[in-house]
Amino acid sequence: MNILLAPFHANGLDLRNHMVMSPMTRSRAAGYLPNTMMAEYYAQRATAGLIITEGTAPAQEGLGYYKTPGIFNKEQIAGWKMVTDAVHEKGGKIFVQLMHTGRINEIRNLPKEAKRIHVTAIHQEGKEPVPLSTEHVQQLVREHAQAAENAIAAGFDGIELHGAHGYLLEQFLNPHFNTRSDEYGGDLINRSRFVIETAAACIKAIGKERTGIRISPFATTNEMPAYDAKETHDTYVHLATSLNALGLVYLHISLNKLIPKETLTAIRESFTGTLILANGQTAASAETLLESKAADLVAFGKSFLANPDLVERFRLNAALNAPDFGKMYGGGAQGYTDYPTLGDQSLASGE
Ligand SMILES: Cc1cc2nc3c(=O)[nH]c(=O)nc-3n(C[C@H](O)[C@H](O)[C@H](O)COP(=O)(O)O)c2cc1C
Repeated sequence: MNILLAPFHANGLDLRNHMVMSPMTRSRAAGYLPNTMMAEYYAQRATAGLIITEGTAPAQEGLGYYKTPGIFNKEQIAGWKMVTDAVHEKGGKIFVQLMHTGRINEIRNLPKEAKRIHVTAIHQEGKEPVPLSTEHVQQLVREHAQAAENAIAAGFDGIELHGAHGYLLEQFLNPHFNTRSDEYGGDLINRSRFVIETAAACIKAIGKERTGIRISPFATTNEMPAYDAKETHDTYVHLATSLNALGLVYLHISLNKLIPKETLTAIRESFTGTLILANGQTAASAETLLESKAADLVAFGKSFLANPDLVERFRLNAALNAPDFGKMYGGGAQGYTDYPTLGDQSLASGE
């Protein structure tokens, strides 16, 4: 693990190793507010080169999962400040993932005054989504930029736009959901416009070295219908090229088996900033990705969730704790802040 555990310095990122903690929703933010337990959870994992937080709503309509946090009001900024302070005290770096749910939120988890919005007005499960006017789309762009400013006020080192897994940004990209007739719908250039404008607005607000994005080309997560393979390939190459021109600090790909190798290669060639690859990675597979230069950084999800000292465990080639799948979403400290470190385990065994 020569590369994985070595410091990373490039394109404005200064990290103590090449390990990123993947964004993971944990549903412990009652009242949409970050709390001290969340600060403890992230601080425990501060030895990661970079932590990316759980998906966090940039506006109230972007909420809608059980106990997920927002970053659109003063209380939330203050709550997140506790988290970033705790991580920084331990020498870590932390970006917040801006996740807008769009069409896939649960109405019962939205604040009363918030409505579900939809890229275009497609009727779903007996609920009428509110279609977006062009003006509202532009407001969404501004809301993301405001959330990015809030993130900096909360002490974050940067933001990651959630352009993956079927959330709002990806809903714009997909021609089955986006049937708009204004400049945000139609061909792939128009369908990519919202993502690119949002990235540009965040960059303008907080700087390119603080703005990254996650994408999941070809994934069908959260009911994303697949579309023509060439169109999909071309969409992501266009995105990578445009985001590269904006100078975005990183592109984070949530890998899946459906992405053709040629698409990954084309994205890699089109984007010259930092590339993060994620999903199902081990220390060994990560090192191979770094050695072959397929990735600049590698992200780990469930292994970080269950191993606060994952970096140390990789260093020592130690066994990993298994994640408790029953306690991933919601609940308290159990299955959240109580995963033991190697130190805890040797104390417990009397070593
Ligand atoms: C509990 C849980 C919550 C997740 N929440 C998010 C999220 O908020 N945003 C996101 O982009 N991905 C989310 N993911 C996906 C992870 O970031 C990651 O892509 C996935 O776990 C696969 O990586 P792994 O094999 O290293 O765990 C979540 C995964 C898990 C297990």
